[in-house]
Amino acid sequence: MASSKSDNSKNLENPPKPRPIRSYVIRSGRFTDSQRKAIDDYWDDYVVAYSPPPFALGSLFPAGSELVVEIGFGMGDSLLEMARQNPEANFIGIEVHRPGVGKLLHGIKAHELSNLRVVCHDATEVMQNCFANESIDKILILFPDPWPKKRHNKRRLVQTEFIELLICKLKCGGLLHLATDWEAYAEHMLTVLEGIDRLENRNGPGHFWEQAIRPTSKFEQRAKRLGHGVWDLLFGKKCQ
Ligand SMILES: C[S@@+](CC[C@H](N)C(=O)[O-])C[C@H]1O[C@@H](n2cnc3c(N)ncnc32)[C@H](O)[C@@H]1O
Repeated sequence: MASSKSDNSKNLENPPKPRPIRSYVIRSGRFTDSQRKAIDDYWDDYVVAYSPPPFALGSLFPAGSELVVEIGFGMGDSLLEMARQNPEANFIGIEVHRPGVGKLLHGIKAHELSNLRVVCHDATEVMQNCFANESIDKILILFPDPWPKKRHNKRRLVQTEFIELLICKLKCGGLLHLATDWEAYAEHMLTVLEGIDRLENRNGPGHFWEQAIRPTSKFEQRAKRLGHGVWDLLFGKKCQ
């Protein structure tokens, strides 16, 4: 009894921290041979370790000043394509799903890209700790997990607090490009982004981006096969 009383008083002094709500579940996803080989062979070349001081961008890339970050790149197809099409810009992709990381590493090596690097860690922590304020030109979140059940809505990546964090990391005039195939999430995104003073809807208030320019992603292909619509949003950070 005595020990349980002292345990209780200790707990009152140091209450356990609430566990953060994650926007993902780590799937045990199987690796193909090529994904596993790419993880083994190219991890050290192209993966940037998560570490709290901001990344030294100048030492990650040989050239280029424009920085584009994609959060949750999945299998990385659209990110690889963007990096290939825009050799003058630098790209960092953030993803927790390791088979997807392996697939992208394979692509980076196959195309000998020097303008694309990968971080395999929770994007919330990466954005909080690894980028200096006003250091990013464009952030993409394409087809984030929709978490459609009401009790899971809190897991959605697009929430005011997270978007406020992204805005701090964007340069003045920097862009935020979101897309989803889930109509209710699209409406939620529009409400969140239009509720933030420092953002401006590049397509006019209340409007989605009808003719969005970006490569098609894997998840989008699946969404279209299922007959889903697609909604893109493009917002710019106002200069103060
Ligand atoms: C629905 S998939 C879409 C993938 C890709 N953008 C596409 O369109 O094909 C969402 C991805 O976001 C990743 N993700 C979700 N939350 C994340 C987080 N906090 N940090 C890093 N990756 C995250 C998941 O692992 C998943 O691969």
